[in-house]
Amino acid sequence: MEIIKTAKDMQAHAEKTRMQGKTIVFVPTMGFLHEGHLSLLREGSRHGDHLVLSIFVNPTQFAAGEDFESYPRDFEKDAAAAQKEGVDVIFAPEKANLYDDDFETYVSLEKLPNHLCGLSRPTHFRGVATIVTKLFNIVKPHAAVFGEKDYQQLAIIRRMTRDLNFDIRIIGVPIVREPDGLAMSSRNTYLAPEQRQAALSLYRSLSEAQNMVKTGETRATRLIEEARRTISAFPENSIDYVTVCDPDTLEDVALIDRPVLMALAVRVGKCRLIDNMVLHPAG
Ligand code: PAF
Repeated sequence: MEIIKTAKDMQAHAEKTRMQGKTIVFVPTMGFLHEGHLSLLREGSRHGDHLVLSIFVNPTQFAAGEDFESYPRDFEKDAAAAQKEGVDVIFAPEKANLYDDDFETYVSLEKLPNHLCGLSRPTHFRGVATIVTKLFNIVKPHAAVFGEKDYQQLAIIRRMTRDLNFDIRIIGVPIVREPDGLAMSSRNTYLAPEQRQAALSLYRSLSEAQNMVKTGETRATRLIEEARRTISAFPENSIDYVTVCDPDTLEDVALIDRPVLMALAVRVGKCRLIDNMVLHPAG
């Protein structure tokens, strides 16, 4: 496994790999790998013969006061896990290698960021779309793999890939959960034991909503009320949003007469968690 530190070296490596006729599959991450990331790597290895993992905590997707500085990092552990999963290259640049002091070009979408997490993190998706564009231009992949836990991020990347004509196949991978249902996230390490109990209410409220829809509930307001009740039963939880929306446009939906996305974001102590589920109506 090779570790590449600069954009220039990565581009040269990608060029050489393409010349050899290999298919590059790319898994971008911010590191501190967990089972969810490993599932992206495993899925990725099914779609090509050269697996590139990037590890870069991207400053432009964090606003002032968010956890950029304290975001968990453990490169040695990540590298060992990547090697075990058959990663060919880790691309791990320094911040200064990707962002010059006079950097001023950003990629932003008009509509998809104006929902869900974009409402409380107004600059986040501009940072994500920008770094993913840069990484696509550096790693030159044929396919790239993203998790469905960050549903809005995946929707934005699919739209951006289509709108900007990137010749890259975007592959989405289902959420990986802990045995108790908590969606895997690098930020779960912030949770104290009692907060973890509170955090389980996210998955519980989604599962309850799925049951309600399966047994005939068609009003989004009822699902939202129930979810809010389940989550608010824990004093350490503070709800950012609970939304039922169209899985493609992310616009709110009132009547559930087709599959809808239920998405939520909750602060548990100082840890902001997200989760989602596509709900399928009865019949
Ligand atoms: O999902 C993430 O870990 C990040 O948002 C990504 C896609 C690696 C961009 O920094």
